[in-house]
Amino acid sequence: MRNTRPSFAEGKQECAAIGKAAAPCEKPGGKEGRASVGNRRIRQCWFALRHGAEVLRDLDFRLAKGGFYFLTGPSGAGKTSLLQLLYLARRPTRGRIQLFDQDLTDAPRDVLPDFRRRIGVVFQDFRLIRHLSAFDNVALPLRIAGRSDAEVEGPVREMLAWVGLADRASARPPTLSGGEQQRVAIARAVISQPELLVADEPTGNVDADMATRLLHLFTALNRLGTTIVVATHDVSLIARTPGARLMRLEKGSMADPTGILRNPPTEVRGR
Ligand SMILES: Nc1ncnc2c1ncn2[C@@H]1O[C@H](COP(=O)(O)OP(=O)(O)OP(=O)(O)O)[C@@H](O)[C@H]1O
Ligand SMILES: [Mg+2]
Repeated sequence: MRNTRPSFAEGKQECAAIGKAAAPCEKPGGKEGRASVGNRRIRQCWFALRHGAEVLRDLDFRLAKGGFYFLTGPSGAGKTSLLQLLYLARRPTRGRIQLFDQDLTDAPRDVLPDFRRRIGVVFQDFRLIRHLSAFDNVALPLRIAGRSDAEVEGPVREMLAWVGLADRASARPPTLSGGEQQRVAIARAVISQPELLVADEPTGNVDADMATRLLHLFTALNRLGTTIVVATHDVSLIARTPGARLMRLEKGSMADPTGILRNPPTEVRGR
């Protein structure tokens, strides 16, 4: 299959840190592997928690490769639950979920880590490793991918600088503010240029200027080919992202009045 992702050199200046980090990532799977990213489909999905409460109902949509999506809806509507299905932390109770051109609904547990490594996640509660420094938290995905210390150093420093934490590299999460922890979590999620980025309220703890800067990071990553799904209450983010599509959950259901989520148009080709 042809690699349709643009070269990292084609990225904008703000992509530099992501690009430097991501380039060696292509070694294990090779470019062919990266090109095989397919649409993400959720087919007639229902999700109930173990105690039986139904959280998501009859979802049926498809995310186009290279698309940028915002997921909105009131508190408790099911945004985090839907993202959990997308990053394979939970399985639907009914229905099918297809990611990277494969139906993973019933995939054996031991194959899921390989797929999860292709997904960057910004958790609503950050989930940083408390005993590791900010630097080591951000470096983690690169180290898991087998990168040497020499290969990790530059990209991690650059990414920390991008999120405004150059001088906090050696700080551990408990000594960071909520907004600083959130930025470490974002840096960790994007450092290896994942094929899919799932971010849960990623700007909920930062000021407006930093939110704009983080949005630039996401759009830069998106220009390099990453499919992005951001759950947010911040409508100003949505308004400032031309070309992004909106998904809205209400009480576990998603309206799709235009049908655009079921039938994505072809304008995303070439990403
Ligand atoms: N571990 C849990 N146990 C019981 N109920 C849960 C659990 N996690 C979520 N829920 C319930 O599932 C529903 C959806 O929650 P979810 O966290 O997905 O909403 P959300 O849209 O992300 O909300 P918010 O905007 O507040 O983050 C809510 O009714 C919530 O109370
Ligand atoms: Mg949530």
